[in-house]
Amino acid sequence: MKEQLLKLKTEALNQLKECIENADIEKIRVQYLGKKGELTQILRSMGSLSEEERPEMGKLANEVRAIIENEIKEIKGKLDTKVAEAKLKSESLDITMPGILPEIGRRHPLMQVKEELESLFMRMGYDVVDGPEIETVSNNFDDLNAPYDHPSRDKSDTFYISEDLVLRTHTSPVEIRAMKEGKLPIRMVSTGRTFRFDDVDDTHSPMFHQMECLVVDKGVTMANLKDSIDQFVKELFGSEMKTRFRPHNFPFTEPSAEVDVSCPICMGKGCPACNGTGWSMELLGCGMTHPNVLRNCGIDPEVYSGYAFGMGIDRVAMVKYGIPNIRLLFENDVRFLKQF
Ligand code: DAH
Repeated sequence: MKEQLLKLKTEALNQLKECIENADIEKIRVQYLGKKGELTQILRSMGSLSEEERPEMGKLANEVRAIIENEIKEIKGKLDTKVAEAKLKSESLDITMPGILPEIGRRHPLMQVKEELESLFMRMGYDVVDGPEIETVSNNFDDLNAPYDHPSRDKSDTFYISEDLVLRTHTSPVEIRAMKEGKLPIRMVSTGRTFRFDDVDDTHSPMFHQMECLVVDKGVTMANLKDSIDQFVKELFGSEMKTRFRPHNFPFTEPSAEVDVSCPICMGKGCPACNGTGWSMELLGCGMTHPNVLRNCGIDPEVYSGYAFGMGIDRVAMVKYGIPNIRLLFENDVRFLKQF
């Protein structure tokens, strides 16, 4: 039995030397030390030994076990270090390699203009409110005093969702919502998307953006309207900017006007961009809120008056940044958007 044990020891140690991965070691451990392993088998046959031999063989068997276990531990440790070293080598970091720059996003020029407008009006004491893009026909047309035969109501001009729901054609219905809330006085602006059945060209898109402004209080006059618009145009485009009011007609205001601003390229001197007129394209529509509109919202026009204006935000962005084509704002070409 002694020889058997010594032979087993030598064999196990030799085999262990040849191991190259943990699985090999485990196999050997099971082969020799496992429940059905060779050493265990030998120990089982101890019963056939004499009383004197038994302790000696027991001792030797335990020593052999300890030696093999030790060797397993050592070789495992060495293997682990080797694996770790190989891993370190393969994952080494070359800090001289050029890095990968993450793409950094930015605000869309339209959103920049929208936020600039909102913060400008907030500083002037206005509330910024929101309105839905799907509106009732009554908010979008009826209560804004639009006659039943007004061309803008036509199905060829407006996206109808049902008989009495439309994609709002302007932000003016937010005025109705503000007035119907019943809190007076009102000083509010509202920005958002608007929709019209328009073909796409350089200055038109079926989806565009507007900002609405409404002030309702006692004693509000056309002079207040002109002054507010003049002030905010100077804040937005620069103090040299002039405004020009041309009489116009809107169902919801009386009197009504359209407002032009100086051509931002020649500052009013006259250049090819403004056809020599010194004025850039119309910026907004405005007027004194029609008494019918006030009445539709439960406000007494004998006590209160109001002014309002509505402005194309896309247009403001185009004037401000010299963008010649509205399509550029909606194509989301990063090379274009990167410039702002
Ligand atoms: N809603 C008009 C449009 O989309 C613009 C407008 C004109 C708004 C006069 C107003 C206003 O508030 O008073 O063409």
